[in-house]
Amino acid sequence: MTHIAVLGSTNMDLVAYVAKAPQRGETVTGREFRTIPGGKGANQAVAAVRAGADVSLIGAVGVDAFGSQLRSTLEHSGVNTDHLRTTEGSSGTAHIVVDDEGGNAIVVIPGANGSVTDLAPGDEGLIATADGLLLQLEIQQSAVLAGAEAARSHGVRTILTPSPVQPLPPELLATIDLLVPNEHEAAALTGATDPRRAAAALLDQVPEVVITLGSAGSLYAARGAEPLTVHAPRVTAVDTTGAGDTFVGTLAVALAEGREMPEALRWASAAAALSVQRIGATSSMPYRAEIDTQASHTLRSTS
Ligand code: RIB
Repeated sequence: MTHIAVLGSTNMDLVAYVAKAPQRGETVTGREFRTIPGGKGANQAVAAVRAGADVSLIGAVGVDAFGSQLRSTLEHSGVNTDHLRTTEGSSGTAHIVVDDEGGNAIVVIPGANGSVTDLAPGDEGLIATADGLLLQLEIQQSAVLAGAEAARSHGVRTILTPSPVQPLPPELLATIDLLVPNEHEAAALTGATDPRRAAAALLDQVPEVVITLGSAGSLYAARGAEPLTVHAPRVTAVDTTGAGDTFVGTLAVALAEGREMPEALRWASAAAALSVQRIGATSSMPYRAEIDTQASHTLRSTS
């Protein structure tokens, strides 16, 4: 079995479901409230474990009740939490509004995630045994850099989701094998709103890029190769929270298993399409057999 390491955040998602998100200064009545374990690191870990890998999460939870819930959700999902620290103070929270089209707006309060500034003893040894390291930007950038450098020094593939988007220093980009922004993040990083142009600009800094395009699928670009667009299955979204994380976690497993990029992208798209049809982040992520079934339907309907 492949082993994926994830260095990243855990958040308790506090989700309000509402017909239409409020504008500034407006108060609206929502339909429902849920607390659902999430955080980009935890989400990618759960997605990868359900896609069929052994997964370890490096990060932190707080000493509060959310911290215990986050840890136990990860453990029940089969994610190894031996490298998940418990720190003084609150766990990370994400304050999410989901509208009737499944779109969302999110405010993240880092809490314990902010205490992850570097690798802890033993983390590098864990990363060295992995077939891939997944990184996002909800912990301190110094820790992301330390993790990526450790992976690089052991020949482990690094995959970075640049979210929440922020300037990426050249020394961090130099340690990244595959960058996976969504179209908004790609535009923010490059100034190019056209995904092909954004991908071309990003290839000056990393060898491979996948830009996720929501219901339009994804665009893959690599140095010296023609860009490739992979269409997403057509589905009706009820909640897109965590869809990008589902995509990345599943993609990492496919690549670690040695699949070629086009097939890996189709498999990841199938997983993301399943996740948007369900509520929440970790709660929406599909299992390997479901992904296989969805991917085979997609292949039949496009061939
Ligand atoms: O990518 C989705 C995630 O973003 C949510 O689970 C929330 O915790 C925020 O981190």
